[in-house]
Amino acid sequence: MFGENPIHILLIEDEEYDVRRVMNTLQPLGGRVVIRDIVSDGNAALDLIRAGKDRYDIVIMDFQISGGLMGEQLIREIRKLDASLQIIVITKMTINITDFEFASGLMKAGAFWYCTKYPVDIEEHIYQPTDFILSIFNAYEKRLLEHEQVRSKRKFARTIENILAGKQLLGASPAMEELRREIAKCAESGAQVLVTGPSGTGKELVAQNIHYTSQRRFENFVPVNCGSLPHELIESELFGYEKGAFTGANVRKLGLFEVANHGTLFLDEISELPLQAQVKLLRVIQEGEIEKIGRTEKIKVDVRIIAATNTDLEREVQIGRFREDLFYRMNVLHVLAPALCEHREDIPALIDHFMKTLSMEANRATPVIAPDAERVLVQHDWPGNVRELRNVLQRLLFDSEGVIGVPQVERALGRRPQAPSAEGGFSVTLDDGSIVSWRQMERTVREKYFRFVRTHSATNADAAKKLGLAPPNYHRMCKELGIK
Ligand SMILES: Nc1ncnc2c1ncn2[C@@H]1O[C@H](COP(=O)(O)OP(=O)(O)OP(=O)(O)O)[C@@H](O)[C@H]1O
Ligand SMILES: [Mg+2]
Repeated sequence: MFGENPIHILLIEDEEYDVRRVMNTLQPLGGRVVIRDIVSDGNAALDLIRAGKDRYDIVIMDFQISGGLMGEQLIREIRKLDASLQIIVITKMTINITDFEFASGLMKAGAFWYCTKYPVDIEEHIYQPTDFILSIFNAYEKRLLEHEQVRSKRKFARTIENILAGKQLLGASPAMEELRREIAKCAESGAQVLVTGPSGTGKELVAQNIHYTSQRRFENFVPVNCGSLPHELIESELFGYEKGAFTGANVRKLGLFEVANHGTLFLDEISELPLQAQVKLLRVIQEGEIEKIGRTEKIKVDVRIIAATNTDLEREVQIGRFREDLFYRMNVLHVLAPALCEHREDIPALIDHFMKTLSMEANRATPVIAPDAERVLVQHDWPGNVRELRNVLQRLLFDSEGVIGVPQVERALGRRPQAPSAEGGFSVTLDDGSIVSWRQMERTVREKYFRFVRTHSATNADAAKKLGLAPPNYHRMCKELGIK
């Protein structure tokens, strides 16, 4: 019954007669409940608790003892030292047993339970023994639960720390320090955030950092790329549907809003959201409820939205492609991820970090980059920002034999003298005599063609269409090429 471990008690009682009565009450339990120490004043009790954390599971204390520290004050001091130490109070019969204020005062101070001592002519028990003993076991259960809670909270905190360590925004430049301050503000606030900035500047990292340092960090972070979801599926992805809502709805589908409930929904490339879905999103933000397809009642959700875009959303509003009311709802807090060319001083540290991690992942020795080669990298314009830098370094890692010089860097940057035609056409020239592998050449052509098509398209969805690619494939290829 009630497990095997002995339950350790600290008894605070200044009348020997009552000490005996407590011991008599516990006697039938043999060694299961052990009175480890007995003291007669509050300060001595605190000293013992301080000296040996976990020496006691439960304190049984007389409410009125001689000496300065007693009663509710003593209860509070004990809880301050160890919040999971459970306290059972015994008081004199003279305290009115219907005095609820007294009882609630005790509970507020942190006592687990209290009872009134039997009249003095009863020697065998301090109180109705089964009640007394059951309370000890209940208090012990509570102690174990609270211990477990502390342990799992600590475990969670460690997991979050690990996640954050893998999502570090590198760079010590003023621009990055400013970005960190903005992230901290957003984490504290809990309002909707719009993250803007050119492609590859770490907008997703910003969103993750906000989530994992916010109140919601123990809940889900759910990323959705609005640009890669087919338009006709967006609503069912976001809001889900009930079984039988339409032909083919064989099972109930949870919407991403439900998955993200209490956590954060990251709407990447929000400018790609079709107008009809924008209306629904606005309604969810305003009402805090979602309408599931095939269901009449709405479902309450508590979701924080962080949206990101690399387009000029205000311009999208002006030309009627993005709803103005939704823009203002999203843009409560605004974070701008800076282009890499605006904080070039961070490039050496980024190179160092990426080269180390990439070579470790590839199980290769970290190559050395010659100072003049590093200079070329620092001075490059990086239209694809940190993502492009990372991709170039990956190329260099596989292209190098230990040392990286200027020619390798030039090659990895795909630099060729190139004269764009008058109408901004697409061309690839190979007139500097260097021979590159077919794979490298293919990559260069692809990258240039993708960039060319993008500059001639209004949106990513438009570019994908022109290229005859499904949006998810388009996005994957862009990512691989370091241009998205
Ligand atoms: N300051 C930074 N420190 C470390 N890594 C970074 C930093 N900025 C970006 N990265 C890395 O660069 C890559 C691109 O970042 P991310 O996907 O967050 O960019 P993005 O701004 O969302 O781009 P896009 O607009 O194309 O979606 C990721 O691998 C990310 O980890
Ligand atoms: Mg992104």
